Amino acid sequence: MAQINENYLKLQAGYLFPEIGRRVAAYQKNHPEAKIIRMGIGDVIKPLVPSVIKAFHEGVDEMSKTESFRGYGPEQGYDFLRNAIVEHDYQTRGVNLHSDEIFISDGSKCDSGNILEIFGPDNKVAIQDPAYPVYVDSTVMGGRTGNIQDNGFYQGIRYMPCTATNQFMPEIPTGKVDIIFLCYPNNPTGTTASKDELKKWVEYALKNKAIILFDAAYEAFISEKDVPHSIYEIEGARKVAIEFRSFSKTAGFTGTRCAFTVVPKELMGYTSEGKAYSVHALWYRRQTTKFNQVSYPVQKAAAAIYTPEGRKETREIIEYYMENARIMRESFTELGFEVFGGINAPYVWINSGTGMKSWDLFDKILDEAHVVGTPGSGFGPSGEGYFRFSAFASRENVLEAMNRIRNLSL
Ligand code: MLT
Repeated sequence: MAQINENYLKLQAGYLFPEIGRRVAAYQKNHPEAKIIRMGIGDVIKPLVPSVIKAFHEGVDEMSKTESFRGYGPEQGYDFLRNAIVEHDYQTRGVNLHSDEIFISDGSKCDSGNILEIFGPDNKVAIQDPAYPVYVDSTVMGGRTGNIQDNGFYQGIRYMPCTATNQFMPEIPTGKVDIIFLCYPNNPTGTTASKDELKKWVEYALKNKAIILFDAAYEAFISEKDVPHSIYEIEGARKVAIEFRSFSKTAGFTGTRCAFTVVPKELMGYTSEGKAYSVHALWYRRQTTKFNQVSYPVQKAAAAIYTPEGRKETREIIEYYMENARIMRESFTELGFEVFGGINAPYVWINSGTGMKSWDLFDKILDEAHVVGTPGSGFGPSGEGYFRFSAFASRENVLEAMNRIRNLSL
């Protein structure tokens, strides 16, 4: 008898974004005339930029000739991409990493979920609430929780509420936790953490031999000068943090798939007897067993983001999305909503102040304005009452969506 992993039975409904897709599809079926504007999932709409496409084509052409054809690539990714990452994403910010510490992957979603496999089942996991649902769901799948309770919290997870009351900055845990998920710029709230704030987390992790899983997938959208782009800008972080970065939003790779994870060589985890063990070695072992890298043309395309042309072109697209975010911020502010995010991240996080539940607001906005957002409670109980709009939309759709919402009575 094949037994299933019963931890999966603890999961609630479907994964958030397919669940939204299902509801929208059902609505569209019953209202075929509705011109629905989708600003729910953070999925890019602009095509890959010319330099990326050129490199992508070259990579494909190389695969067509015997002399330039490539089979399996290096386990952690090609040097040309890892070296470009080290130079442009880190050295320019005074962070020294070795290219051996970079693991190219097909997405931060996969990596931030899979990474839990290399840690023991008894670790206490702390997660911001609301949060990107992958962190909680993967913690549940790995058997590190009990059942979900009536208040929406799983037993066994240390939730760290992030609301307007604490400026979306979780408090340092009073007790001991072992693994801490932090996401900055934050998805879903669009808020950021200062260097001083991150410093407190690094100090906590050093003191408690904890590990910070730092999701920096939205780093490229930071516009304010003093906001840190990497956890490694904080002294000591190499000893306690893993960082996830992605080309998905930065350069429109949601469909192309390429990202990377940084695991510094000094980072140690511990056996139950307290013996230190290299986390880098474990992740290397896991990835070489279960993953065969991103295709050569895709890695070549990703490296083109770091050329002068590629940087200029991707920057223009980021600015386009961030102008959308600005328009959304202003519109919701004028409507009297409490508005967060949208300055250093492509998400605008709003609170209508009406006391309306997130899913009720979702239904109302879908039904009356034919606009799709993401209900805050879908990201965790502390997101209740909030709503997220993604700036990854055409300007025309953003303006139209804001007009339609302006005419709603909320
Ligand atoms: C989001 O909308 O939160 C993200 O697009 C989902 C993802 O990146 O997987």
